[in-house]
Amino acid sequence: MSSTKLIIYITFFLSLLLRSSSAQDIVKATYWFPKSEFPVADIDSSLFTHLFCAFADLNPQTNEVTISSTNQPKFSTFTQTVRERNPSVKTLLSIGGGGNESISAAFASMASNPNSRKTFIDSSITLARSNGFNGLDLDWEYPKTETEMNNFGTLLQEWRSAATAEASSSGSPPLLLTAAVFYSSDHYSAIYPVQVVANSLDWVNLMAYDFFYRSDSSSITGPPAALYDPSNTGPSGDAGVSTWIQAGLPTKKAVLGFPFYGYAWSLSNANANSYYDATTGPAILPGMPEAGAITYGLIKKFIIDNGVTPVNNATVVGDYCYAGTTWIGYDDSQSIVTKVRYAKEKGLLGYFSWHVGADDNSELARAGSFFLIFF
Ligand SMILES: *[C@@H]1O[C@H](CO)[C@@H](O)[C@H](O)[C@H]1NC(C)=O
Ligand SMILES: *[C@@H]1O[C@H](CO)[C@@H](O)[C@H](O)[C@H]1NC(C)=O
Repeated sequence: MSSTKLIIYITFFLSLLLRSSSAQDIVKATYWFPKSEFPVADIDSSLFTHLFCAFADLNPQTNEVTISSTNQPKFSTFTQTVRERNPSVKTLLSIGGGGNESISAAFASMASNPNSRKTFIDSSITLARSNGFNGLDLDWEYPKTETEMNNFGTLLQEWRSAATAEASSSGSPPLLLTAAVFYSSDHYSAIYPVQVVANSLDWVNLMAYDFFYRSDSSSITGPPAALYDPSNTGPSGDAGVSTWIQAGLPTKKAVLGFPFYGYAWSLSNANANSYYDATTGPAILPGMPEAGAITYGLIKKFIIDNGVTPVNNATVVGDYCYAGTTWIGYDDSQSIVTKVRYAKEKGLLGYFSWHVGADDNSELARAGSFFLIFF
């Protein structure tokens, strides 16, 4: 065989392999947000099919979606910048976020009334188009009563109708519409309108993390993003996915979330350093803006600086490491690959991570993406 022919064969074979990672029937996504201080130009967008730019804000007075003047320059150039390394990557503007109770109250109020819903919907579509995004993502964390869940459903239906109408009048491909939702289809006593979600959105991002972090009820170590809970009493990604699927969400509308960050605790006793051991509260290490959440990049530094050997727990699918009284629970690349394999085996649409700036030189993003190319 001539070398030219060989190159053609290799190129053809590679394109078949790569097609599986860029086709629209799979989602390999991550979120980026400006406070991470991670430059947009440093995102290796070749490892993703979709990128979420977070967050646009809901103005509680006017019910309009806006981009703050600080964020505007980065948001308006986001799509163009990430396309340089991957011309086919799709971008979505994410609205809201899990900031505080006043943000979720603003969503509840907006969704309760047809006029404010229309203001929200119209302004979100205008903002996405004028800033070059391919879609919109609703991050209302979380609707918490039956009424709020119903209003959430109504909002999604009207959002879809408006997006369809806009696409036919503008002649552009319809905006993708997604939402980031609680890991489980029931948020305490309130239940998501799963059928409406399935009919209205392209997919939902299941936030299967933040299971062990500071709250009034929890001051013990634990896997922050367990895929399985052997005792079947606590939260886990698998338990959450199962509730959504059993409630009628098609598997191809479910995208599994995992964290590119961990959670650091101060142990009460340096010798009691496993899961579910007592702490005196979240720990703070150099480079962390506040106690608790710690990026994978800083976790790697902690491991090297202290010469510690991390523990991988394949039963829960999670990792931890400790030195003295500092203990950190997180996902390393092995756990990420197991979760990507899980998503594939369950027939889910894909996976996403929060957040790209917490990774260590794209180690975790690469682990997930390469797994799907070769298996
Ligand atoms: C909640 O978050 C919003 C938006 O980030 C901020 O303007 C507001 O001050 C915060 N409120 C509280 C009580 O922290
Ligand atoms: C993994 O964690 C679970 C839950 O704490 C525990 O039951 C199990 O023994 C651990 N497995 C290993 C190998 O440490």
